[in-house]
Amino acid sequence: MSTFPTPSTAAVNLKRKKVTTQTLRAMKHASQVISVLTAYDYPTALAMDQAGIDVILVGDSLGMVVLGYANTLPVTMEDMLHHCKAVSRGAQYAMLIGDMPFMSYQVSTDEAVRNAGRFLQEAGMDAVKLEGGSERLNAIRAIILAGIPVMGHLGLTPQSVHMLGGFRPQGRDAHAAMHLYEDAHLLQEAGCFSLVLESVPARLARYISEHLDIPTIGIGAGGGCDGQVLVTHDLLGLFERFTPKFVKKYASLYQEMSEAFTAYKTEVEGHIFPAQEHTIEMPDSEWESFLDKVDHA
Ligand code: KIV
Repeated sequence: MSTFPTPSTAAVNLKRKKVTTQTLRAMKHASQVISVLTAYDYPTALAMDQAGIDVILVGDSLGMVVLGYANTLPVTMEDMLHHCKAVSRGAQYAMLIGDMPFMSYQVSTDEAVRNAGRFLQEAGMDAVKLEGGSERLNAIRAIILAGIPVMGHLGLTPQSVHMLGGFRPQGRDAHAAMHLYEDAHLLQEAGCFSLVLESVPARLARYISEHLDIPTIGIGAGGGCDGQVLVTHDLLGLFERFTPKFVKKYASLYQEMSEAFTAYKTEVEGHIFPAQEHTIEMPDSEWESFLDKVDHA
């Protein structure tokens, strides 16, 4: 197994620079679309970095697609840091953003700053993301004051699933749309370098994106945002419990994985695996000598 880049990717990498908050702002102003994906482990981060993905988000979607919880609420700081560390070992160029889990920034600004700091100090992240609008301004300002870039997250904010009455689209009437628009401006004024817009009407997301200086990253928010993000397990067809309408599946890995496991079981049970080419041998002379030693032991 080799993790060394091939000559062609090595040549591409020579020209690559680490993506920063400035890069993202420049991309918005050059109308260059920003690609974002979630990752939770080393090999996925490595493959994304090689593919040139601009931003890797270690999302608290971890709780649902990797840890098997019904929602993101049980995810802890320790869960997040563990997976952020693995991702940071795999990615060299992409900007790395750690998602602050439920209750890591809601209790007090002091706790919010301390927890945000752990993502950078212990887990190799470049920035943090947290959910919410006007109610989160104090935490956001305090974290930024500590020198930590913050990405906002509006619309469907999964940590508020019980307040929202389920995983449902947001901002669909004029009043809710206005609230979202105002929150987006408040987050920009508070210093967020970017903003996720999740599950909001496409024309609202486009309008907000056109009226903000900071880049918006859409998920289920149409093509008018400055960038796009998907949960990688949805894109790969690895998460079978449900697939939101806005997901495009680029692979069916759960299906492939199941087929591989079934084939393995069949071959093990049928003595087909391991075959000759999968076995290790020792020289005949050493084997004879071993048998001799056993006989005389
Ligand atoms: O947790 C996550 O993966 C996210 C993305 C869906 C934006 O917040």
